[in-house]
Amino acid sequence: MNFHLQSFLVLVMATLVATFMIPTFAQLSPDYYDKLCPEALPIIYSVVKKAIVAEKRMGASLLRLHFHDCFVNGCDGSVLLDDTPFFLGEKTAFANLNSIRGFEVVDEIKAAVDKVCKRPVVSCADILAVAARDSVAILGGKQYWYEVLLGRRDARKASRDAANANLPPPFFNFQQLLANFQTHGLNLKDLVVLSGGHTIGLARCTTFRDRIFNDTNIDPKFAATLRKSCPRRGGDSSLAPLDATSSKFDITYYNALLYKKGLLHSDQELFKGDGSESDRLVQLYSNDPYAFAKDFGVSMIKMGNLKPLTGSYGEIRYNCRKVN
Ligand code: HEM
Repeated sequence: MNFHLQSFLVLVMATLVATFMIPTFAQLSPDYYDKLCPEALPIIYSVVKKAIVAEKRMGASLLRLHFHDCFVNGCDGSVLLDDTPFFLGEKTAFANLNSIRGFEVVDEIKAAVDKVCKRPVVSCADILAVAARDSVAILGGKQYWYEVLLGRRDARKASRDAANANLPPPFFNFQQLLANFQTHGLNLKDLVVLSGGHTIGLARCTTFRDRIFNDTNIDPKFAATLRKSCPRRGGDSSLAPLDATSSKFDITYYNALLYKKGLLHSDQELFKGDGSESDRLVQLYSNDPYAFAKDFGVSMIKMGNLKPLTGSYGEIRYNCRKVN
């Protein structure tokens, strides 16, 4: 074989490899629905907006659904699946039982997008990502808007065991929280900035009772007030706001941490006043809403990229609660 033929064959082989082998992992993209169904994102926004006007807390509940979806086998809509004879779903895992909410709003969004797109092209996993972003922007204002990446497909199974293994509980200490985030490819900064999601929404007494009775890193007056509605016994499901402005997406959460007024043990773990890297980030976000807004969007996109199903993996569900 002469030299020219040999180098020609090498070139052909290299081109074939580049064409067929490398793009095994399809990327998400911001304009995924632009051609498929340009009305999809505006209709999601309008349903989310209506739901938040009806009940402010719904924005928080939708943001949390996306987080709980992504941390369990990736952002694949698995959190939305009901139990079946073949698997126990994630809805009854410790962190989710009697806690996650917003499923009716997701159903309403799904019906609305399928109608406007005239066929089911928008995945339930993408609906969660967009609804989370819209909730943040509606409750925080334009500065908290970020571009969501899209093109996820939906899982055909869910796992309660995986949810129990992957969703962090509120009694975790800093090292445990960090280790949990790291197993999801997220770092210390992601942990601190995404915990800022607790600037909106409510928590049940069972999730902070231990903190208000046993923690020392807590403002005594703050603890005493909470003990009234969350006593040692009883009142398990009575609710308290995660920060003082729980229907505004803002930096109040970080300011509360500076004054030992984090509601959850896991919140206060991010600020101990010992000059750690985590402390410094809490201090930064507590007086710079622009830094918080910018970093929150970046980390949400990172979280939204966790193991999405793309290409021919998974499916586009007809009903977010069931596989097709
Ligand atoms: C860092 C580890 C985290 C822990 C240990 C944790 C734990 C919790 C707990 C215990 C609750 C109260 C649930 C209840 O009482 O029913 C809660 C609520 C909430 N969490 Fe987290 N969370 C964490 C991270 C996140 C992240 C990363 C986000 C979003 C980016 C988030 C968003 C929310 C929201 C918005 C609520 C309020 C939901 C509502 O009012 O319906 N959390 N979280």
